[in-house]
Amino acid sequence: MNMRDAWEAEAANWIAWARTPGHDSYWRFHAERFFELLPPAPCETLDVGCGEGRLPRDLKQRGYSVTGIDGSATLIEHARSADPAGDYRVADAAALQIGDASVPLVTAFMSLQDIDDMPAAVRETARVLVPGGRLCLAIVHPINSAGAFETMEPDAAFVIRGSYFEGRRYEDTFERSGLKITFYSEHRPIQDYFAAIEAAGLLVERLVEIPDPKDPPGNRWQRLPLFLHLRAVKPV
Ligand SMILES: C[S@@+](CC[C@H](N)C(=O)[O-])C[C@H]1O[C@@H](n2cnc3c(N)ncnc32)[C@H](O)[C@@H]1O
Repeated sequence: MNMRDAWEAEAANWIAWARTPGHDSYWRFHAERFFELLPPAPCETLDVGCGEGRLPRDLKQRGYSVTGIDGSATLIEHARSADPAGDYRVADAAALQIGDASVPLVTAFMSLQDIDDMPAAVRETARVLVPGGRLCLAIVHPINSAGAFETMEPDAAFVIRGSYFEGRRYEDTFERSGLKITFYSEHRPIQDYFAAIEAAGLLVERLVEIPDPKDPPGNRWQRLPLFLHLRAVKPV
């Protein structure tokens, strides 16, 4: 099954997981860190891989006007019912039904590592951006998806058993507080994202590596980044 279809099959679990306040890193710190990356509101925004719509809803509260697209019809249906006035569309990130040079800001929050044809999705974001527009993305940091900590101890060793350079699909299942989710993702080295950005004609202007600020100092995800944030600009 491709990742788009896998996410549609996982939609009910994702809705419960994503909508439980405080449940995942989005609520604990990740959304706030992502907002730091964005050009200021007001700004017309296209959110690629919006899921059930939590980021578009939060961006709208901050003064952005947002169109959300996602490959899952179930997630888009739930995004619409949580925000009936909003603009949510079922679409593949690799084939956006949006005009050339029409959007000043594209966000892709924790979606590109789950998108089958990531280079095409980045190319599409570049196509729809106006000159001077920004792509702001958050992904699972490629060092995170390359390996795993051996234990839960704060000083646990982080081990990469295969090749960091080799792209591969993986599934990660988490169970917490009665909720269960499987993430369907692809590990890709950083250079694959940079190659896609370069081929799309975008220029990187900021890159930030995000640890877990709620982990005690010296703990596992204080020593390594969970996520990678990147902002790229379409040259004028
Ligand atoms: C981890 S979820 C993140 C959702 C949302 N950005 C959030 O943080 O709440 C990844 C999302 O990518 C979407 N996705 C996967 N493949 C896609 C594709 N080809 N086109 C558009 N969306 C896709 C999934 O349906 C899912 O909603």
